Amino acid sequence: PNYTSVSDLSNMTNIKIEKLIRDLTKMGFTNVTHNYILSREYVELVLSSYNYKVEEQTSVLTPETVYDELKSPVNPKNLMKRPPIVTIMGHVDHGKTTILDYLRKSSIVSKEHGGITQHVGAFQVETPISKRRITFLDTPGHAAFLKMRERGATITDIVILVISAEDSLMPQTLEALKHARNSGNQMVVAITKIDRFSNPKQREAAIEKVNLDMMNHEIPIERIGGDVQVVPISARTGENMELLEESIVLLSDVMDLKAETGAQATLEGYILESEMKKTTGNVSTILITKGELRKGKVLICGNTYCKVRSIKNENGQEVAKATPAQAVEITGWKDLPGAGDEVIEVKNEATAKKYVAKRVALIQTLKESENVDRLNEERATKV
Ligand code: GTP
Ligand code: MG
Repeated sequence: PNYTSVSDLSNMTNIKIEKLIRDLTKMGFTNVTHNYILSREYVELVLSSYNYKVEEQTSVLTPETVYDELKSPVNPKNLMKRPPIVTIMGHVDHGKTTILDYLRKSSIVSKEHGGITQHVGAFQVETPISKRRITFLDTPGHAAFLKMRERGATITDIVILVISAEDSLMPQTLEALKHARNSGNQMVVAITKIDRFSNPKQREAAIEKVNLDMMNHEIPIERIGGDVQVVPISARTGENMELLEESIVLLSDVMDLKAETGAQATLEGYILESEMKKTTGNVSTILITKGELRKGKVLICGNTYCKVRSIKNENGQEVAKATPAQAVEITGWKDLPGAGDEVIEVKNEATAKKYVAKRVALIQTLKESENVDRLNEERATKV
């Protein structure tokens, strides 16, 4: 699992819960209770501090793992609160795009810059009441996400499950629900299009129907003691949209989302999009998960690397740095990196070249051994 509560961890390891809480607090985690949620990275960190063997991975080097040794180990001292990363899922036409458009337009961030939003596959809003940032990814179905999912990387924290008050649960709602459950994402439900009912009684009845259908599908909504918040909204009139944003902030506080930032942490992230532009050359959008991106840093990804020449935010403005849960557009890639590929910072270009060469050689060896296997198979069948 990507997230484990302290009490689950205690059950799994037979380490007393009081001891876990005490030791976690010593390690720098704050407000630890039995409900406290740890991400997989931190579970591994905690377990290793108890000399608990985390299933020794027989380290077979693959093209996917060849750069892993470049990553810096987790240092709880560098942990900082980070914005949640949110995707919107739901049945076709239930209002996913309309919600994103509304948020994009109403966000203070884009208002400040005259609302010129560029398409970078992700954007941040500042919530109107609590002044907190939320990162929305607007293309959960696209290639980058499928590729990341294949490798078991979940970069999203929260799924907004969109359900139209007119239709209630539909086949793709159930698909999205299944996905949210499998990925270990937390969920908030938005019942959309409530403005379609001018009669308050009818509106209440429609919302009630969605609630009952959710209970029938065992969605643990708050009404039955679960933790899934339900917010009836209209993305057309904006009704309750602030409430929806605050629900996400509330949930992200419970999840206690943190990432390492600062100069000591080695930058990590994922390529969301990648494109060759006539004017600027190879451009990619990178979602940062750890560290701090600055101009001049060297990044490695697949069989290519990048000396970062420029960093632009989603409004197309140059920025000096970017931090976890931010998606920014960067230039400076030697070759185009692939969408969904992992990005890691390296010390300098020489190191980048060395590791790229190592990966290329590994891929070559794997190809050759595949060929040998195939030859052997062919011979065996001939005999
Ligand atoms: P797909 O991308 O095709 O899966 O659809 P979607 O979920 O992105 O739905 P979209 O946002 O495109 O909305 C579908 C239609 O419903 C559009 O005509 C929207 O204008 C309308 N719509 C979405 N949200 C609301 C709402 O809150 N109120 C009303 N009245 N209409 C809405
Ligand atoms: Mg859409």
